[in-house]
Amino acid sequence: MRFAVASVLAFASSVTAVGNAIVVNSTPSTFYLWSVGGSVGPRQTIAAGGNYTEVLHRDAKTGGIAIKITKTADGLYTGAPTQQFSYSLDGAQVWYDLSATMGEPFNGQRVTVTANGGGTIDWPKGSNPGGSQVKVTSSDSNVVFTAYGPA
Ligand SMILES: *[C@@H]1O[C@H](CO)[C@@H](O)[C@H](O)[C@H]1NC(C)=O
Repeated sequence: MRFAVASVLAFASSVTAVGNAIVVNSTPSTFYLWSVGGSVGPRQTIAAGGNYTEVLHRDAKTGGIAIKITKTADGLYTGAPTQQFSYSLDGAQVWYDLSATMGEPFNGQRVTVTANGGGTIDWPKGSNPGGSQVKVTSSDSNVVFTAYGPA
C-alpha cells in the first residue's frame, strides 16, 4: 500500500515537471508579444522591467509554439519587425530557437535565450550572428528570452 502510493506520487511529479517559457523585458521600453500555435493568443503588453511566463506546452495542430515579439502594439498585424522565440516540447526535451522576420526589432540591442542545462543563444547586437540558433534542454527547465537596452 505504502509502495503503491509512493509510485503514484512519483509518476504524478514526473509528468507535471515541465518548465516555463519566460520573456523578460530588460529594455527601457514597452514591447508586445503573442504566443502563436494553431491560433494566435491574446496580445500581451510587457512593460520595461516586466516579464511574461507561460508553461511549456504543445499545440495540438502545430506542435511547436512561436512567441512573436514586436515593438509596436499591432506589430503582428502590420508587418513590423518581429522577434520569434520558438520552442517545441518533445517528451523529456524542449528544443528552442531564435529568429526574426520582417526585420530585427532589437537591432542594436542584445537579445539572448538561456536555459538551465541547455545552450545559450546570444545575439549581442540584436541581429542574427549566423550559425545554428537551435538548442535543446530537458523539459523541466525554464527557457528564458531576454531583451536588453541599447548598449
Ligand atoms: C517576473 O516578474 C515578477 C513580478 O514582477 C517577478 O517577481 C519575477 O521575478 C520576474 N521573473 C523574471 C524571470 O524576471
